[in-house]
Amino acid sequence: MSEIEKSYEDFISTVSHELRTPLTSIRGFSQTMLASWDKLDDESKKKFLKIIEEQSNRLINLVENMLSVTRLSSGKDNLLLKEIEIRPAVEMAVSIVKSQYSDKKFDIAINPKTPSILADKDKFQQIITNLIENAAKYGEENSVIKVETGFCEDCEFVAIRVVNTGIGIKEEDYERIFTKFSRIDNPLTRKVQGSGLGLYITRNLVEKMGGKISVKSEKQTDKESFLTTFEVQLPASNVEKQARAKCIP
Ligand SMILES: Nc1ncnc2c1ncn2[C@@H]1O[C@H](COP(=O)(O)OP(=O)(O)O)[C@@H](O)[C@H]1O
Ligand SMILES: [Mg+2]
Repeated sequence: MSEIEKSYEDFISTVSHELRTPLTSIRGFSQTMLASWDKLDDESKKKFLKIIEEQSNRLINLVENMLSVTRLSSGKDNLLLKEIEIRPAVEMAVSIVKSQYSDKKFDIAINPKTPSILADKDKFQQIITNLIENAAKYGEENSVIKVETGFCEDCEFVAIRVVNTGIGIKEEDYERIFTKFSRIDNPLTRKVQGSGLGLYITRNLVEKMGGKISVKSEKQTDKESFLTTFEVQLPASNVEKQARAKCIP
C-alpha cells in the first residue's frame, strides 16, 4: 500500500471511530426511551434527551471540523463577522465536552466585564470547543479545566485562555501541533483517539478572523505534571473597523 493510501485509510478509520461514539450513544438513549417510555419518569426522559442533544452537538462539531479541512484547502470559507459574547460559547462547549469526560471539572472564570468580540459565531464555537475538548482529552485524571479571559480597557484584542494540567507539550512541539494531522507521540496520545486536525483548523479559523493563537506549557513546581495554556486573541468588537480591514484577505 502506498503512503497516501495508508494515511487515507488511517484517516477514515479515525474519523469513523470518532463518529461512532456519539452515534452509539444517541441510538442507545433513543432506543431506551422508545422501549420504556411508560416506565420512565419525566426526570429521566429529560436527562436522556439532554444527552442526545449533547451528543448531537458533538457530532456537529466533528463534522464541522471535517468540512473545515476541505474548505480551508479550497479557500472557500465565508465568515460572517458579528458582535459575539464569549460566555455562552464557552458554556455550550463545556456542555458538549463534559458528558464525554466526566472525571473533569470545569471552571469558567470569565469576568462579566469582558468585552464582546468580533467573530463568526459558528467558527468561534468550533475554536472554543476544540480547545476545551483537547484540555479535557489531554488533561490528567480528575483535574480542573479552566477557561478565563484577559482584556483591558480600549484593548484591540480580547484573550481567551484554556488551561489544563497534564502531560504537557514540549517547546520544540509548539509549532508542529498546529499543522495538519500532527499528533505528539507519547503514551497518552496513543491511548486517545484523534485525527490531528483540531489545532490545524483552530489556528486557521483564528487567523482568518484577524486573531492569534499561542501555547505555553510549563512544569508545575513540586509536581510531575505541566500547566498548559492555549491562548486565543480575537478582535474586540469596539474596534470593529480596524478588525474588518484586517480580515479582508
Ligand atoms: N492540552 C493539551 N495538552 C497536551 N497535549 C496537547 C494538548 N492539546 C493538544 N495536544 C497535542 O497536540 C496534538 C494535536 O492536537 P489536535 O490537532 O487537536 O489533534 P487531536 O486531538 O485529534 O490529536 C494532540 O495529538 C496532542 O498530542
Ligand atoms: Mg483535538
